[in-house]
Amino acid sequence: MRLTLKIWRQPDAATKGSMHTYEVDDVSEDMSFLEMLDVLNEQLNTNGEEPVAFDSDCREGICGMCGLMINGKAHGPEVTTTCQLHMRSFKDGDTITIEPWRAEAFPVIKDLCVDRGSFDRMIQAGGYVSVNTGAAPDAHSTPVPKPHADRAFDAATCIGCGACVAACPNASASLFLGAKITHLGELPQGQAERDTRVLGMVAQHDEEGFGGCTNIGECAAACPKEIPLDVISQLNKDLRTALRHA
Ligand code: SF4
Ligand code: FES
Repeated sequence: MRLTLKIWRQPDAATKGSMHTYEVDDVSEDMSFLEMLDVLNEQLNTNGEEPVAFDSDCREGICGMCGLMINGKAHGPEVTTTCQLHMRSFKDGDTITIEPWRAEAFPVIKDLCVDRGSFDRMIQAGGYVSVNTGAAPDAHSTPVPKPHADRAFDAATCIGCGACVAACPNASASLFLGAKITHLGELPQGQAERDTRVLGMVAQHDEEGFGGCTNIGECAAACPKEIPLDVISQLNKDLRTALRHA
């Protein structure tokens, strides 16, 4: 395949960026999207040009490091992570536009890399269980009803990639936040800090500059782990309860 790539280049956080156009050929449809960018970077290196900076780690859809706006869609045309997107989703001769996540709370560091430290600070504000549980308990010593266990596991599949924020016109992190609240709130171990967790995490969410949820649903449509929109209902329910208790 031969492709035209329009890519956001920005030397650092303080300098204004712009779109640059590159041609790549010898792209196989079996390559992942990131392998296609590796081909571009080898080409740029050979020509003595600065390679395009982008994030990745596991390249297996697990870590949440990769994340690009591809033709205006978070993670591109398939419901998957950028590293699991394959070039068979594109055609020979296509022009592909590649940009970083766009959100005030995700400032661009360089080219396609953004700083998602705001997610880490939200977790630090309450996304954990700090009760002292002692030694590892025997299996089944704390019974968890199957529907609760299933819902906690489903919510726990959130990998913190940030596609939900990038896809949302309000740049809200409510789906990410709802996933964490639901994951911990469904389990007995998560009950002791349930109120402080939601109050702390919502306050941090707002302080970081994420927008509010207006029920548009783009977040759930873009989420590579198919986190359902109703975790945001759980978030709002927990927040109302915590405010009543406060
Ligand atoms: S909710 Fe989905 S889109 Fe948002 S950070 Fe988690 S995995 Fe990524
Ligand atoms: S590089 Fe880990 S999820 Fe894509």
